[in-house]
Amino acid sequence: MGWKGLIEEYRKFLPVDQNTPVITLNEGNTPLIFAPKISALINENVNLFLKYEGLNPTGSFKDRGMTMAISKAKQNGAKAVMCASTGNTSASAAAYSARSGLKCIVLIPKGAIALGKLAQALIHGAEVLAIDGNFDQALELVKEITDNYPVTLVNSLNPFRIEGQKTAAFEVCDSLGKAPDYLAIPVGNAGNITAYWKGFNEYKQNNKISNLPVMLGFQAAGSAPIVNKAIVTDPKTIATAIKIGNPASWKSAETARDDSQGLIEAVTDDEILAAYQLLAQTEGVFVEPASAASVAGILKLAKTGYFKNNTPINIVCVLTGHGLKDPDRAIAIIKQPEVISPTVAAVLEKIKLDK
Ligand code: F0G
Repeated sequence: MGWKGLIEEYRKFLPVDQNTPVITLNEGNTPLIFAPKISALINENVNLFLKYEGLNPTGSFKDRGMTMAISKAKQNGAKAVMCASTGNTSASAAAYSARSGLKCIVLIPKGAIALGKLAQALIHGAEVLAIDGNFDQALELVKEITDNYPVTLVNSLNPFRIEGQKTAAFEVCDSLGKAPDYLAIPVGNAGNITAYWKGFNEYKQNNKISNLPVMLGFQAAGSAPIVNKAIVTDPKTIATAIKIGNPASWKSAETARDDSQGLIEAVTDDEILAAYQLLAQTEGVFVEPASAASVAGILKLAKTGYFKNNTPINIVCVLTGHGLKDPDRAIAIIKQPEVISPTVAAVLEKIKLDK
């Protein structure tokens, strides 16, 4: 009967039982797309794949965690959920809450979330409050309120979020028939790198794979607390999704990095925007800026000679969110269409076709 969502697909790996009301929008099952042009930029032995998480129901990987968090909140009798968000978590929480009948409250940093994400949270009926502060401050408020009032926190500090998100690692392995050699991923609040690492390890323990990937995390240079080993009090980057100065899952991101002999490094906004355009213009894949950090990071490492392989290797870049989330960014960096008269002659003059 086709794909019924990740809880049904991976039920035996998830903390659900027959009494869990499964709240799903058939999330998961996103494509792993081969990227021939970007592979060739690295070396002839690299096969680079794109895990296109922007094709989840609300346009980001957050749906994987949210189907679990909302289903478990329902099972546990919650009436309301709450999150702080740079946009995607709030979009996803709002959609799954609407579907389940839960009240959803969202705190966002004022003026710092992309237009599409704000539209989503609003249209799904969440109560959206913009704070005059940043994401880290919003998360502190949400932690304090959810600790003291009957409201369930659905940020990735909620362990069910990580459980749902680990299924992306399962899907990558199921598609390749093994674990990739490298897994590249943007890092913000650091829940997703934690979830992937958990997923790969569980698949190994269950003999579904025999190797683990090297984990490569990338933060935006102006918001790189893990790289700099210090909280960033005023994070800056055009990649608003990962504009986070004090990640909640900081420790477990370091564990993923160290246990896999990987690294977490910074990429500049210019590098992010170059990768953003490269993905769109050579591979036909439109992502939001934060997602392009994974590809930017791989290209940066390639330039330093990090990939010295003489035999074929697989690299998977996680593309966390859809480009339509942040249309303003694309429009700001690409030349706008010229207005011409509605005549064949005027069109032909501009496009200069050979007969
Ligand atoms: N990419 C996108 C598109 C995101 O929205 C986020 C996080 C990340 C990467 C980083 O993932 O936090 O697990 O390390 N967005 C959160 C939000 C913070 O509120 O939507 P992470």
